[in-house]
Amino acid sequence: GGELKTWEGDLSPVRSPVFLRTPEGLQQRVLGATPQLTSKESLAALAAAVKAYDSGRGVWPTMKVAERIEAVERFLVAMRAQRATVVNLLMWEIGKTQPDSEKEFDRTVDLIVETVRALKELDRTSSRFVQDQGIMAQIRRAPMGVALCMGPYNYPLNETFSTLFPALLMGNTVVFKPAKFGVLLIRPLLEAFRDCFPPGVINIIYGKGRETVGALMESGQVDLFAFIGTHRGASELKRMHPRPHRLKSVLGLDAKNPAIILEDADLDNAVKECIIGALSFNGQRCTALKLLVVHRSIAEVFLKKLTAAVDALKPGMPWEPGVAITPLPEPGKADYLQGLVDDAVAKGARVVNATGGQSSHSFFAPAVVYPVTRDMRLSSEEQFGPVVPVMVFDRDEEVIQLVVESQFGQQLSLFGQDPARIGRFIDAFSNQVGRINLNCQCQRGPDTFPFNGRKDSAEGTLSVADALRVFSIRTLVATKTT
Ligand code: G3H
Repeated sequence: GGELKTWEGDLSPVRSPVFLRTPEGLQQRVLGATPQLTSKESLAALAAAVKAYDSGRGVWPTMKVAERIEAVERFLVAMRAQRATVVNLLMWEIGKTQPDSEKEFDRTVDLIVETVRALKELDRTSSRFVQDQGIMAQIRRAPMGVALCMGPYNYPLNETFSTLFPALLMGNTVVFKPAKFGVLLIRPLLEAFRDCFPPGVINIIYGKGRETVGALMESGQVDLFAFIGTHRGASELKRMHPRPHRLKSVLGLDAKNPAIILEDADLDNAVKECIIGALSFNGQRCTALKLLVVHRSIAEVFLKKLTAAVDALKPGMPWEPGVAITPLPEPGKADYLQGLVDDAVAKGARVVNATGGQSSHSFFAPAVVYPVTRDMRLSSEEQFGPVVPVMVFDRDEEVIQLVVESQFGQQLSLFGQDPARIGRFIDAFSNQVGRINLNCQCQRGPDTFPFNGRKDSAEGTLSVADALRVFSIRTLVATKTT
């Protein structure tokens, strides 16, 4: 690991979050450069997608499902051949550990394979006939038009492709914008895109979100908006569309997933799951556990185990074996996190683990902050980084109120043993979040499960089979039978 071919040019530089020791001191590596499209240029990319769709009469939307599948399968062969290069770029561009970078690549391949499998199934079952009240109809699945797909920097391959491929497979044409970090790793796949799909079917744009994507939205020619990122970003872009009722959106947005740890929880398991949940990829997952809510009677022993486990996590470079904490790709992120910690400390909390807090050069050592109260920013603001706020509770009703009052509703974790009490919590939470995880961390996978959320956390459902439905529309061919 660690070897990388670089691209140089007079375009906008792409910097690695990784600082390397050189004779001149620590140096941030410039990995390459990427274009910053003007709105005129991104509109040209959209025009190509509109032309390729051609009001549903283009080569791609009218192609047989089996032929579209064949194109995607050819792409997969080429993609698999780029595994080492893409994994290396994941490590350098976003600082993801090698095992997690490999997992992201493999999971993406599996997701595309599963999507193809689900499409075959959908194609088989959706062409069936339905009959009622003297009318018989065949339900067909039809593409919807031009999809704009945008993914986040924490899964620049996986989450972009998790919308791009279902959109494509259903016969839509696509404009996609790589994540703001993790943009170079698309390059090794460009040739395969070019070779496997007809011209205009896939169009890639680069640049600042509002300038490049805003123009596309304002044009009114985007039919499908697949976006995984912030609630604010999604809302701003959606508002720019002149005919919002004609824009179908599927959004994966912010979250503040809590873990609730009851008195009878298996604490060793709870700590293990909370560490993975709160700190894998430095807590930069939308599904990360972002608030731990512990019953007062076990808070002390839980904290002791938790802080010991947090302090044992090894910081280092993404390719080093056994590393858990790596550089953060967002410039200024460490200052932001320190601001959240300082706010909590000013209001009476403290950093309870030995090593927590801001470190140098894009590293932030995980900080366990305790006791967090509801007046602190850390109780409701999504930190998206290695800060672990711990709150105590006395009565179950307090926890229910916290969840009900949250602006977000993606997932939560519940640690405990008493079936009756857990049942009551499940009843209270079922209409608040998209997924309740019992005695385990929150997560999106397996990708064949529906992935959704409530309130400001999501719109629509993403996953393999759901995504195919999201990116298509049912058309009925009906006739009277009597
Ligand atoms: O960042 C949000 C992702 O959807 C989280 O996915 O639970 O597989 O890490 P994950």
